[in-house]
Amino acid sequence: MDPEEIIELLNRDFRHELEATMLYTYNSFVIEDCDISRLTEAIAVDEMRHMWWLADLITKRGGRPSMETGEIEYIGEDIKAGLEKQIEKETEGIEEYERQIAIIDDEEVVGVLKHIVDEEKRHRKEFRERIAKL
Ligand SMILES: [Fe+2]
Ligand SMILES: [Fe+2]
Repeated sequence: MDPEEIIELLNRDFRHELEATMLYTYNSFVIEDCDISRLTEAIAVDEMRHMWWLADLITKRGGRPSMETGEIEYIGEDIKAGLEKQIEKETEGIEEYERQIAIIDDEEVVGVLKHIVDEEKRHRKEFRERIAKL
């Protein structure tokens, strides 16, 4: 796989992490349940750290991270629906990272993506545990 292709995939991940950071940051401002709000805030920080790791991989390969985002569906009045959206966001990320891990032949990139996917699985588990308690 040539570096341009890898940069393109990493930028897709980067945009996804940017969206997750924005989604969770905003949601943590408006969720009234203290435990869920603090968890969402802490996970927003994890997602920003993922942006940082991806940006490092992108710039080292001569690319520039893209700050464009798709549409972000922020939480409404229904906290359960909002958490479900957060879980969906994690699942989309996990599936995309796993797809990329299987096709990218750059050891450093694969190592970072594996680390990120482990954290996304933990996030999903934490959100699922909160939904189960509602
Ligand atoms: Fe992430
Ligand atoms: Fe995550």
